[in-house]
Amino acid sequence: MLLKSKQSYDLTEAAVTDEAVFYNRRRLLQQMGFLGAGSLLASSASAGLLDFFSSGDKPAGPQFQQAPLTSIRSPYSTAETMTAESKATGHNNFYEFGLGKDDPKANAQGFKVNPWQLTVSGAVNKPLQLDYDALFAPELEERIYRLRCVEAWSMVIPWVGYPLATLLRQAEPTSAARYVAFQTLHDPAQMPGQGNRFLGGGIRYPYIEGLRLDEAMHPLTFLAVGVYGKTLPPQNGAPVRLVVPWKYGFKSIKSIVGIKLVEREPATTWNISAPNEYGFYANVNPQVDHPRWSQASERRITRGGLGSDERIPTQMFNGYGEAVADLYAGMNLRKYF
Ligand code: MTE
Repeated sequence: MLLKSKQSYDLTEAAVTDEAVFYNRRRLLQQMGFLGAGSLLASSASAGLLDFFSSGDKPAGPQFQQAPLTSIRSPYSTAETMTAESKATGHNNFYEFGLGKDDPKANAQGFKVNPWQLTVSGAVNKPLQLDYDALFAPELEERIYRLRCVEAWSMVIPWVGYPLATLLRQAEPTSAARYVAFQTLHDPAQMPGQGNRFLGGGIRYPYIEGLRLDEAMHPLTFLAVGVYGKTLPPQNGAPVRLVVPWKYGFKSIKSIVGIKLVEREPATTWNISAPNEYGFYANVNPQVDHPRWSQASERRITRGGLGSDERIPTQMFNGYGEAVADLYAGMNLRKYF
């Protein structure tokens, strides 16, 4: 994600620059003492904070423990080559833990996910309060989905979870419910990016997202509690995150504590930060470029490493058009980007 402001919270360099060049430059900046989080030139941040986020030379602390999950196969899965687990769990966007792609993995290993409380509230007949164990109660499916980041890279990831509609139906939305608003945990003590505008990229926290109710009820819209056959690691949004495969990745909000059914279109984090760059809908669309880069193609990350990534054409709705195009019949997708 990239903000246009003079503060240059520039994370898309990796997307538009060859990865090796990007990492070399990053290392160089780190050696020069400039680089704290990702490519953020936070010269005014304190040395202590920079230390926290410069993952490269950090001693390895206790690793987060993932548990195995049993799931059934889903007909909604793609047969495309899956991204290596080490890439999907090591190249992340989770600004609460830092702006660099390897910061979330390096900085989130101590994140506490149990106990957890997820509430489903608002315009519903039966509000829900789910504790950690309840998150895993519905029948679990494996869904192998394409994930297309707005920064023009993509992966193919085997999520484990269940349709969001499963929870929403239990809560019984009332006739007043037209949208669904989502919120990430707000805990600056655990998520240092939330407490410091340099480390957290200057966006407003907690991270919030939203969908129209029909989008939220769509069978492809998924609540993931696992990935690669195990519970989610923190860097991927443990213990529960959204996955909306036909939209840019920033819609897929991580570490959710609140789901609220509402009447009006909810505010969303990236739309608040840069409304001309990140729309509410954020449907993957190769014909509608980001104001500062093309969305016509993407870098598919499979194994990672030099020469292994491929540049491929981006598909309308990330290839899920047959299933979701009807949701937008008659809408001007340039206006509602
Ligand atoms: N959710 C929260 N709370 N904070 C974030 O910074 N980043 C988003 C999304 N969800 C983000 C978030 C973006 S930009 C992307 S591309 C995806 O998470 C990345 O998911 P992944 O790291 O599991 O691939």
